[in-house]
Amino acid sequence: MEHPTRLTNGDPADANEPFGPFEAWFAEARKSEPRDPDAMAIATVGDDGLPNVRMVLLKGWGPAGFVFFTNSESAKGNELARHPKAALVLYWKSLSRQFRARGSIEQVTAKEADDYFHSRARESRIGAWASQQSRPLESREVFEREVAERTQTFGDGPVPRPPHWLGYRLVPLEVEFWTEMPFRLHQRIQFRRAAPGGAWTKRRLYP
Ligand SMILES: Cc1cc2nc3c(=O)[nH]c(=O)nc-3n(C[C@H](O)[C@H](O)[C@H](O)COP(=O)(O)O)c2cc1C
Repeated sequence: MEHPTRLTNGDPADANEPFGPFEAWFAEARKSEPRDPDAMAIATVGDDGLPNVRMVLLKGWGPAGFVFFTNSESAKGNELARHPKAALVLYWKSLSRQFRARGSIEQVTAKEADDYFHSRARESRIGAWASQQSRPLESREVFEREVAERTQTFGDGPVPRPPHWLGYRLVPLEVEFWTEMPFRLHQRIQFRRAAPGGAWTKRRLYP
């Protein structure tokens, strides 16, 4: 085997809900991934039914769900406004583990979004004002000029959160823990519930 097989720490097969094992897996990923253990793909769907997917950073999680931040006027923001459902996946190469979740999307509170926004570097906060995320950009120079103009406008003053910069929470109805095992006889443990707050049921899936 190329990668060590690990079923000992936070084995979801021993759990009756998914957040304990997720916590254990994420803690291990923080230690072992060379960078961005919080990088996840988030899939949305457009009006035409065509899925769309991109990476974002997982910035909060717990029994309430999985939180990321973005521009609500972006492609994903528009897709989520019309179809507030999503799927996410994290893959931790160093652990040979994959974690998936599917569910509905809700916005986090303004306070939660403010708190995270203000934890970011000033340059990133100014960038959030300058970037019309997902819309066509004539040239790199245009963008750099817009960033410079915003930087000048804000001067030494505070950089508030743009109204279109929001946090989204995926509230899972289905999650899956995948662990690589020798000869592709991988372990898959899936948790499901009928509604947020409901009881989880667990089952194994063939790899
Ligand atoms: C590792 C990684 C992390 C990223 N994190 C974020 C993020 O947290 N929020 C965000 O809006 N875009 C993030 N991006 C950029 C997105 O992948 C994407 O380019 C952008 O959000 C526009 O996507 P959209 O046009 O589908 O809305 C990240 C990209 C990478 C590669």
